[in-house]
Amino acid sequence: MRMMPEFPADFVWGVATSAFQIEGAVDTDGRGRSVWDTFVDIPGRIRGDHIADTACDHYRRYPEDVELMRRLGVDAYRFSISWPRIVPAGRGTVNQAGLDFYDRLVDALSAVGIRPMPTLFHWDLPQESEDRGGWLRRETAEEFAEYTEVVAARLGDRVTDWITLNEPFEHMALGYGLGVHAPGHTMGLAALPVAHHQLLAHGLATGVLREAGADRVLLTNSYSPVHPTSESAGDVAAAEAYDRLHHALFTDPVLLGEYPDLSIMGIDRPDVVRDGDLAVISRPIDGLGVNYYSPSRVAAAENRAMLPFQLVEFDGADRTDFGWPVIPSGLTRTLTDLTARYGAALPPLWVTENGCAYSVEADAGGRIHDQARIDYLDAHLRAVHSAVEQGADVRGYFCWSLLDNFEWAEGFDQHFGLVAVDPDSRDRRTKDSFDWYRRLIADQTGRR
Ligand code: NOJ
Repeated sequence: MRMMPEFPADFVWGVATSAFQIEGAVDTDGRGRSVWDTFVDIPGRIRGDHIADTACDHYRRYPEDVELMRRLGVDAYRFSISWPRIVPAGRGTVNQAGLDFYDRLVDALSAVGIRPMPTLFHWDLPQESEDRGGWLRRETAEEFAEYTEVVAARLGDRVTDWITLNEPFEHMALGYGLGVHAPGHTMGLAALPVAHHQLLAHGLATGVLREAGADRVLLTNSYSPVHPTSESAGDVAAAEAYDRLHHALFTDPVLLGEYPDLSIMGIDRPDVVRDGDLAVISRPIDGLGVNYYSPSRVAAAENRAMLPFQLVEFDGADRTDFGWPVIPSGLTRTLTDLTARYGAALPPLWVTENGCAYSVEADAGGRIHDQARIDYLDAHLRAVHSAVEQGADVRGYFCWSLLDNFEWAEGFDQHFGLVAVDPDSRDRRTKDSFDWYRRLIADQTGRR
């Protein structure tokens, strides 16, 4: 294989996971229920009706996972903190045992020189918050800020880098718009207040973290180039509408202090915006997290009743087991497009997720030869490098994911991990991609 070009010496190499997808221990040590616990209990919502009560059993086996990361040689670990573990009812009483878990995790990471980069919200809203209206309700943003304060007070002496929210677009669209994720509402565009309240939560939490002395506060969104299926005016307008709803809606308020024009979708900005909110939302951040998997292809909707656009499959490209097209140049373009669009208003970029689902059985010797993942990661890292050469200020890369884990509505069937997890014993087994990433990090960091 060709040598990977050199990344900047201080480039941060990492892996990413999220709480609900790996922790398990859903009833342990006073954790409250989350919307995902409720959702997985509804028959037919999760492929194979998989449940995540144990997930990867990371809550108990975290020392093993930290040891895997030490062997891998990563600089940083992006994980998420489960709000219902810390504040089981979403507001009010704090669960010390929940804080103790993250305390132990952070200490274990620090002991082996791995920088913890927690995300404060990765979709597992406390069920009691949802019962009060969830993200449709403004107070949820205030409660998120209170929870952030509690976490920062406990971990802020050792955690310097924070991510407020993960992919608020997906949480709104899949969880409240289309109902394929928790909490399972099917409100279509009426879910728009969910965007504003999450953004407000981000802004309030940014203020809290700043007060607590954080060095770096990020917001993570998913980004991808959006291609119209044809040059027809209808398809081009549909692609623009999708781009605004998915990307600009969650970026312009933060970086520019204003909502994008959504009239192209026949809607105004969220009607729950109050005076002063945009000033909170646009508090300066220190980095923008970019999750990239594949580009989007969009056509004018055949039936415009709900949305003016529809997503269309890519022809001809290789696909992962999830069916997602493998188009590494889309990552270069994502990073350079953000750089061009936001100019001086853009903070440094961090690829906070990138990876692929491939299921490969172990051979007779117990080895998992997941060459397709190696090829995917290799090509996407070259794509990041090319964006850096073109002037994008990219500071780090986090592979999704350390472990095969609970892939939301897809259950455990989509395998994104560098490490396999046995479905019965939960024993870990490193894959060829783990060794490949380990060697790559060693090569890249050997010059430090
Ligand atoms: C983005 C989400 O943040 C993560 O939770 C998910 O597992 C990956 N994409 C793969 O779909």
